[in-house]
Amino acid sequence: MKLKSKLNALIQDAFNQANIDQTPLSVSEATKPEFGDYQFNGAMALAKSLGKNPRAIATDIINALDFSSLIRKAEIAGPGFINLWLNPLVLADFCEEARGDARLGIALRTTPQTVVVDYSGPNMAKQMHVGHLRSTIIGDSLANLLDFLGDTVIRQNHIGDWGTQFGMLVAYLEEQQSDGDVSLKDLEVFYRDAKKRFDVDANFADKAREYVVKIQGGDTHCLGLWQQFIDRSLGHCEEVYTKLNVKLSREDVRAESFYNDDLSQVVSDLDKATLLSESKGAKCVFLENDEIPVIVQKGDGGYLYATTDLSALRFRAKNLEADRICYVVDARQSHHFKQVFKVAKNAHFVGTDVFLEHIGFGTMMDKAGKPFKTRDGGTVKLVDLLDEAVNKAHESIRNKEDYSLEALEIKAKIIGIGAVKYADLSMNRESNYIFSWEKMLSLEGNTSVYMLYAYARIQSILRKHNAKIEGKMRISDALEQHLSVTLLRFEDILQRASVDASPHQITSYLYELASLFMRFYEQNPILKEGVDEETKMSRLALADLTAKTIKQGLDILGIEVVNQL
Ligand code: ARG
Repeated sequence: MKLKSKLNALIQDAFNQANIDQTPLSVSEATKPEFGDYQFNGAMALAKSLGKNPRAIATDIINALDFSSLIRKAEIAGPGFINLWLNPLVLADFCEEARGDARLGIALRTTPQTVVVDYSGPNMAKQMHVGHLRSTIIGDSLANLLDFLGDTVIRQNHIGDWGTQFGMLVAYLEEQQSDGDVSLKDLEVFYRDAKKRFDVDANFADKAREYVVKIQGGDTHCLGLWQQFIDRSLGHCEEVYTKLNVKLSREDVRAESFYNDDLSQVVSDLDKATLLSESKGAKCVFLENDEIPVIVQKGDGGYLYATTDLSALRFRAKNLEADRICYVVDARQSHHFKQVFKVAKNAHFVGTDVFLEHIGFGTMMDKAGKPFKTRDGGTVKLVDLLDEAVNKAHESIRNKEDYSLEALEIKAKIIGIGAVKYADLSMNRESNYIFSWEKMLSLEGNTSVYMLYAYARIQSILRKHNAKIEGKMRISDALEQHLSVTLLRFEDILQRASVDASPHQITSYLYELASLFMRFYEQNPILKEGVDEETKMSRLALADLTAKTIKQGLDILGIEVVNQL
């Protein structure tokens, strides 16, 4: 239900009626309950062009406004604000409609886009670390959101599986395998050991360098080893994806190596487009107002990160037919993306109408405000962090005797992983944020635990009722009015979040909704004795729609709920 666009349409009708030949600004949510449910603040902006006092314009608009359905009352305030009160009968109908619909009344886009979402992209030579957490979960929630709204979403996992370090790793793998099976369980250790060998043993170092050339030259034996290495490293990533409840699969992997064969073509096409210069033996593209050139081929013939991204951009625009390409990557790569986007457009690798977007995010910090590290200064492995989250959640519910061990385990996973994801997604993605176990596992404040609690609370009410919810919904006081208007704002929130690619708009909304529900429930008992049947049913319906909205919102964020906490 798009409450906002319905109201905007009514204001537009009033403009037409009042012969105001302008497009009205959008209505906005009322900032205070005494200002009604929505506000229209567009009269002031018209004063100049209409040569009229804004209060007089507001009066004209109100006189032309249709009060027969959604809008119940309108009042002028201050210099010309129009405060709007909505009709509770209509709100009740809309809520009923939403509750009866699997999509909560939210329409699919009428003009869906094909959107490529590039996220996660771990490096296969290393273990996934906390830096990949943000890309993985922000990207996944964005993909879920666009998918829910009806876009055709193509997830792309641009894994780093190519480069000189693989010569060393593959040579070491071969050596280890000749001594028995290698687990590769801890890539960090494996990498360190391989590097040690490389540094102390000149023969090994020579072999590693030879293997780089062989892999790149397509030598079957070396490529086979490389493939084995990548498969197993990717397997570890997939364990993390499963733990994280993230939807990336093998089909979404389109690795850096996929673009290898196209890289020389990229360079020659840049040359054909007369964009190429030579600088210190390297081939590069100079951009306007940018001192740093984009190097696409080194003097020794090697290609770079940017070359692969240019090829990927072309592939996504031409082969995947993307209308919008979103890169969910650390904000520190913003210059890289600014550059490759420009080069890709200048070279016509990507049409002018394709929307290219770097969805950057800040760094996860520890309590002292430093980048997150282990106690001994190492990078924190994502797997360890997630396991710790589940353990902590387990501790917090362990004393609940009425659950079986198995039930406890399932709940601990949902609570622990949900807490980590929600804490991350609820931050404005562009800022750095401080990782705090206490905060994210708290029952108070904007946390997943609070959301899960609100959801479980409603489920417990519904279980106690244990029958169909019948009869018509009625909005009978200011709190119910506020709750229903908030419930009906969900679609507007999702639309906004999809444009801004900002999941935190969804968490803020869910928090507002859940808090409002708690207030409503305190004041408006549902199953208590003395509550008449009609009121009970109506409140049950409101509670049910609240729970469904919370569940849908969390589902988009990739967070599961529990029926009982
Ligand atoms: N592998 C890169 C990293 O770990 C991320 C890849 C992002 N995607 C891209 N198309 N460049 O930083």
